Amino acid sequence: AEVDVTDARVTARLPSGESVEVLLYGASVISWKSNEGKTENLWLSEKAALDGSKPVRGGIPVVFPVFGPPPKSGHPTSSLPQHGFARNQRWEFLGKSTSEDALDSSSVKLDFGLYSANLTEDARKAWPYDFGLVYSVTLAKDSLQTVMNVRNEGKESFEFQMLLHTYLRVKDISKVAVNGLMGVQYVDKVLNASTHTESNKSVTITGEVDRVYGDIPQDTTTVVEDSKPRFDIVRDNLSDTVVWNPWTEKAKAMGDFAPDSGFKEMLCVEVGAVKGWQKLEEGDTFEGGQLIKSLL
Ligand code: BG6
Repeated sequence: AEVDVTDARVTARLPSGESVEVLLYGASVISWKSNEGKTENLWLSEKAALDGSKPVRGGIPVVFPVFGPPPKSGHPTSSLPQHGFARNQRWEFLGKSTSEDALDSSSVKLDFGLYSANLTEDARKAWPYDFGLVYSVTLAKDSLQTVMNVRNEGKESFEFQMLLHTYLRVKDISKVAVNGLMGVQYVDKVLNASTHTESNKSVTITGEVDRVYGDIPQDTTTVVEDSKPRFDIVRDNLSDTVVWNPWTEKAKAMGDFAPDSGFKEMLCVEVGAVKGWQKLEEGDTFEGGQLIKSLL
C-alpha cells in the first residue's frame, strides 16, 4: 500500500485502488473509496471546514469524551462543547502497518494518537484527566475498520462516552432503510427525548430523524438501498447506535452543510457507547469500534 503523509493529512491507497484519507485535525476520516477507488462511501459537506477551524461536517468525526450536549451541571464533562473535544484537536500520526498478501487481502492500518498532554489549554482545563487515545483506521478491499482505544493514564478514575459519527453516502434517502434494530429501545431526540421501542424490521427515513438506539443485541446494522444491502456496520464492544438525518430545515440551518439538498444523499449511522458512562480506573483501557463493509 502507498501511504502519503503531509502536515495536515494521511492518505493510504491499496494496490487495487481503494483509498482512505484522514485529517490529523480530529483524526477525521474524510474519504473512503472502495470498488477499486470508484465508489466514495462517505458523505462530506461541500462547505465542511477542513482547515481545523471547526469540526468536519461529514466523513467520520470522533466523539469523545461526551456525546451530544453534556449534562447541564454536576458532571465532569459539563463544561465541554457538544460531542466533546476529540473532533477538534490535532492528533498525532503514530504510523502505519501494512499487509500485502494476495491483492484481494491486502490492507493498511493507520494509527493516530491523542494524549491529555497535547490538548489545547481550554480542553485540558475543561476535562483535567490524564488519558491516551489510540485510534486505528484499517483499510481493506471492501471494508473500513475504525477502532478506538481509551486508556486512563492518571491516578483518578474518569467517566466517558464515545461515538464514531459516520456520515454514510447514499444515492437517494427515499430508497434507504436501516435493518437490525427491531425490538431495540431508543430515545427520540426529535420527540422530546421520549423513549420508544423499534417496531420496524426496516426503518425508513421520511423526515428528520435523531434517535439513540441503546443496548442493541445484534452486532450488525445493515443499510439497505433500493432493496439491496449497501453497508453492513458491525459493532465491536459498543452497544449503541445513533441514526441521524437532519432533513430539510435543520440541514438549511447548519452553516457548514452544503448543498442544502445534501441530506438526501447522506445518513449518519453512529456506533458508540453513549448510554450512561464508561468508567476507567487508573491504568485501565477500553476498546470499541466498527467494521463497515461496502456491499456493492
Ligand atoms: C448527532 C446528534 O449525533 O449529531 C444530533 O444525535 C446532532 O442531535 C448531530 O444534531 C450533529 O451534531 P453536530 O454537533 O455535529 O452539529
